[in-house]
Amino acid sequence: MNISYLGHSSFLIEIKDKKLLFDPMIKANPLASSVQVESIKPDYILLSHGHEDHVADAEMLAKHSKATIISSYEVVTWFQNKGIEGHPMNLGGKWEFEFGTLKYVNAVHSSMLPDRSYGGPSGGFLIWNEEISFYFAGDTALTYDMKLIPLFCPKLDFAILPVGDNFTMGYEDAVLASDFIGCDTIIASHFDTFGYIKTDKEKAILAFEEKGKKLIFPVINENIKLP
Ligand code: NI
Ligand code: MN
Repeated sequence: MNISYLGHSSFLIEIKDKKLLFDPMIKANPLASSVQVESIKPDYILLSHGHEDHVADAEMLAKHSKATIISSYEVVTWFQNKGIEGHPMNLGGKWEFEFGTLKYVNAVHSSMLPDRSYGGPSGGFLIWNEEISFYFAGDTALTYDMKLIPLFCPKLDFAILPVGDNFTMGYEDAVLASDFIGCDTIIASHFDTFGYIKTDKEKAILAFEEKGKKLIFPVINENIKLP
């Protein structure tokens, strides 16, 4: 397995020889100018919801790489109308993909597409196979529903949680979320990209350390090493 960070909430995760690209917003992110966007050849593009900061490069990359978009029914339909392949899902549903099982789980957030179309519910992704189990939370508040996650899938190896506050939970709530989901290795997302979400990384790391947990702030364009 390989995990690399492409800025904001965008991650490229390779499992079972398939490249899964999450929430691509790279070209419009000045912090991610070192990423060669055209060289990313995803097999699947997973969109947690329709907000611009999560779908900005999805159309271009899907057309370029013939990737399949996985998201809510509403987001997938919007992309299908642009001639892009998609696999529509809705909350609580799971599907066996060639890279493993994926369950589209609840997020507490809003969703609207760039042209102001309704984006359906906002979600997160639970993905597991024989080798790995992880959770990509997308944009979400802390929610009691996260307590269901350990009942749905094998014990999580890691989780990608938003920590930037204002539009999502902040790191204090992310510590609680890590308890709810039963996972002590957390990769931070949705921090620093714009003014509202500037994050004190030292404080955040310490808050996790105090509970015996590990918070990793990924570096753009670098592979993430799990402990
Ligand atoms: Ni959002
Ligand atoms: Mn967002």
